[in-house]
Amino acid sequence: MTTSSVQILRSKKELRAQVREWHMDGLTVGMVPTMGALHHGHLSLITEIQKHVDKVVVSIFVNPKQFGPNEDFNKYPRSEAADIEKLEQVNTDLLYTPAVSEIYPEGFLTNVSVSKITEGLCAANRPGHFDGVTTVVTKLLLQCLPDVAIFGEKDFQQYAVLKQLAKDLDIPTEIIYGTLIRDNDGLATSSRNVYMSAEERQIALEIPNTLNRIINEIEGGSLTIEEALKNGTQRLLDAGFKEVQYLEIRQSDTLESLHQTTAGPSPISARIFVAAVIGKTRLIDNMPLKISL
Ligand code: PAF
Repeated sequence: MTTSSVQILRSKKELRAQVREWHMDGLTVGMVPTMGALHHGHLSLITEIQKHVDKVVVSIFVNPKQFGPNEDFNKYPRSEAADIEKLEQVNTDLLYTPAVSEIYPEGFLTNVSVSKITEGLCAANRPGHFDGVTTVVTKLLLQCLPDVAIFGEKDFQQYAVLKQLAKDLDIPTEIIYGTLIRDNDGLATSSRNVYMSAEERQIALEIPNTLNRIINEIEGGSLTIEEALKNGTQRLLDAGFKEVQYLEIRQSDTLESLHQTTAGPSPISARIFVAAVIGKTRLIDNMPLKISL
């Protein structure tokens, strides 16, 4: 039997002991929480956090609490052996893959909930989803106590929620995001991209194209926010998207909505967010922009 170069732990007791030992040796520890089925977006989070810390823990835990009743938790892909091979390729130090009872033991009654930032965008179509995410990430961070934890920029709302969570609860972990990875044609990398036909994939490129166009129109002052978003929504529908669930611009840190006003002198950091459905595939994307209010 061959042994993996990745240390594999399944209990919080062993995880804590290992992280404590690293800390006592003066090493810093980073965590990459995942639900497995690892793809190159996850691997880029690992290589990115390796630049910040000495040791990297990846967790794989398919979290039942963040799936809605109509989302199939049981069918979520589980591929531990393939995941371990990928973790070896990027020199991951430790895989933490706890059983459900290690995270939610018998009698577990606590729900961690962040308000405001969890309103709208991806929360609108997934009630309870963010409470599931914040509850499990609180558990994972407290079990591991890493110095830094990284989340993908593609799920920017999730990153913003988790940054707020760590700040509010005094969890001593710096929350950072790993840059959104795009395929050569500009489409945000996602495990869902494989579900699209060649034709749908071509149409899907209208997402990054539309976001870039809206940013140019707003930053260049040729259209108001309202006009640019309205035209952008129509462009996506005309291209062949079945539904545009949201196309919105929000303030970057607080994710507060921006209401269209006249241009002013001080640009603020904002982000444009989109979720749109093509065939059976739901795609999300986001990009930063500067807005003068
Ligand atoms: O982004 C994910 O994969 C999950 O929401 C996370 C952060 C691992 C929590 O289960």
